[in-house]
Amino acid sequence: VRTLKVALLGCGNVGAQVARILLDDADALAARSGARLELSGIAVRNLDSERDVELPRELFTTDADTLVKDADLVIELMGGIEPARSLILTAMQNGACVVTGNKALLAQDGPTLYEEADKAGVQLSYEAAVAGAIPILRPIRDSLSGDRITRVLGIVNGTTNFILDQMDSTGAQFADALAEAQRLGYAEADPTADVEGYDAAAKAAILASLSFHTRFALEDVYCEGITKVSAADIAAAKEAGFVIKLLAIAEKINNAKDGGGEGVSVRVHPTLLPREHPLAAVRGAFNAVFIEAENAGELMFYGQGAGGTPTASAVLGDLVSAARRVVLGGPGRTETTTGYVPALSINASTTSY
Ligand code: HSE
Repeated sequence: VRTLKVALLGCGNVGAQVARILLDDADALAARSGARLELSGIAVRNLDSERDVELPRELFTTDADTLVKDADLVIELMGGIEPARSLILTAMQNGACVVTGNKALLAQDGPTLYEEADKAGVQLSYEAAVAGAIPILRPIRDSLSGDRITRVLGIVNGTTNFILDQMDSTGAQFADALAEAQRLGYAEADPTADVEGYDAAAKAAILASLSFHTRFALEDVYCEGITKVSAADIAAAKEAGFVIKLLAIAEKINNAKDGGGEGVSVRVHPTLLPREHPLAAVRGAFNAVFIEAENAGELMFYGQGAGGTPTASAVLGDLVSAARRVVLGGPGRTETTTGYVPALSINASTTSY
């Protein structure tokens, strides 16, 4: 059986679980991939950092460049823009397939990375970047590729869903619900990216790009977070039979009556959702993505959108799929994005849809 060398970049919550599963489940992963997936090293900034999972010390290195150059498959879970971007580019130029969970990088610089993957003839996959464990990108890209998606509505940030749910069920104010989210470890010590909607906006850009075969970047997404949602807003919504959810929305719009053509609106904002809508039932820190397609009709995907082990599941799914393609004779290619339509971001505040 062929052996493929796997380099892991980053060993935070998700990275540590990916490493553990690669080591513990090596036989099953080999059976499913058709190759042994040998963890050749884990690149970290600090060799002495505390980690939740015990992993062999000899796997760790601070020399990410050397690790990447010698790998068949590279998993990037370091986050941030640099050095993640350069390392991914080097890996692909060397013919390695790359799996990443780096939504910020993809939302900012996805087009460059997809083009490089195409040029190098390798697969770049990123299921873990949107909604953690939920298989959502591959269904959009593959299963629905014979259909026309008309709208995507996503609860793609668990922290804000938890906060809004707390406010809805206990009547708490935003600040108290945020403090509770921090106490439970959902929100970061600096919760800006979650509560201002930036994390959801990066995911919205990725969902919209795949759903509408158009390249959307973060700056194309209208973004409003939940910091201005008050207990009184939530109570009024409840009274009227609605729940307030932070939704990532990507939908086809027609501006014909304003003299424009067809476009796609991509936005993140607090939204009034009828209580009987399936997304209204998504409680706590869970994620869900609701899709409307011309032929399939309505679909909903639900699950854990964060956390080490759930997100590792998505990373390993991508890894096995990349390994299979390598084994089958030739790295797979990343999706091609054709049929561009102009990106359009519209101004919208709290609206029902
Ligand atoms: N901070 C994110 C969330 C983590 O709360 O959903 C997953 O991207």
